[in-house]
Amino acid sequence: MLYKRTSHLIQTVIRYSQLTNIARMSSKPSVYVTRPDVDESGLDLLRESCNVTTWSKASAIPREDLLREIKGKEALFCALTDRIDAAVLDAAGDQLKCIATISVGYEHIDVHECKRRGIRVGYTPDVLTDATAELTLALLLATNRRLFEANREVYNGGWKSWSPMWMCGKGLKNSRVALYGFGRIGQEIAARIVPFKPSQITYTTRSPKPEEAAKVNAKHVGFDEMLSLSDFIIVCCALTPETKEVFNSSAFEKMKPHCIFINTARGGVVDQKALTEALISKRIMAAGLDVTTPEPLPLNDPLLKLDNVVVLPHIGSADIETRKEMSRITARNIIAALKGCEMESEVNF
Ligand code: DGY
Repeated sequence: MLYKRTSHLIQTVIRYSQLTNIARMSSKPSVYVTRPDVDESGLDLLRESCNVTTWSKASAIPREDLLREIKGKEALFCALTDRIDAAVLDAAGDQLKCIATISVGYEHIDVHECKRRGIRVGYTPDVLTDATAELTLALLLATNRRLFEANREVYNGGWKSWSPMWMCGKGLKNSRVALYGFGRIGQEIAARIVPFKPSQITYTTRSPKPEEAAKVNAKHVGFDEMLSLSDFIIVCCALTPETKEVFNSSAFEKMKPHCIFINTARGGVVDQKALTEALISKRIMAAGLDVTTPEPLPLNDPLLKLDNVVVLPHIGSADIETRKEMSRITARNIIAALKGCEMESEVNF
């Protein structure tokens, strides 16, 4: 008798705890994460107050899977590999409150459509500024001093003896360095270039930024002046309808023949066919690209056959601590939006 009563009591307790767990879980907002390979610290933060589901493979989620998985979710943790447009928002349903991308760029999100539907959008500026500026300098130096080309010669037997003019590049000292875009990243790149003693740093933006420019003694110049006078052109602007393929064949035509072109912003800022032609014909000296169209660049792309090009696989912000913090900021943006609070970094439409 006593055994029967005890066992009934235990079963009641188990059932009660199961029910309260279900109730607790169902009262938590649901979040879909499109990358399982983001740093766990961000996911752990989310799990404290949300039901988190993640895409299972360490590769970009195919569109049809995203359209299926986002259904009924209140928030989306996404990356620049995901195109978030009206079809995705429709598939999600009216309960979707926010989208947070683990990137500073948000051109993959249709922000106007989000605004129209009252969906808030978070992103991760500032945290990656130093890492991206550092990578830009690394890419610039690898390109102008021909590091990868020289390194290949060590391994393929091309290194016969020390030779006075072999593998010579073009130094930064006394050269004119242009920044196309002068936001946080552009300013940090400029600060890192100063110690290399260029003759002039210039920047090209819609309107001058005298205060920021004064810190690095940079001069504001127009697009054509930048093209015709610069020894180095560094692209560090956002991809917008105005900047899309602004570096086209007529732009490359105006550059100096020894100009070195660096892009750590977005591949879409460049007409890549025109760039490839300018490099093949030696219309410009070399290019260093951390971003391309498409990404990844197919192995048979003509750019990959050229010695005067350094291509990196979009690793501008790929510094361990930076990427961890990007994961946490994205999570905190979501948590704040779901509570109706101010996001740490929100896109202002
Ligand atoms: C960004 O954040 O937009 C970079 O391109 C990737 O970190």
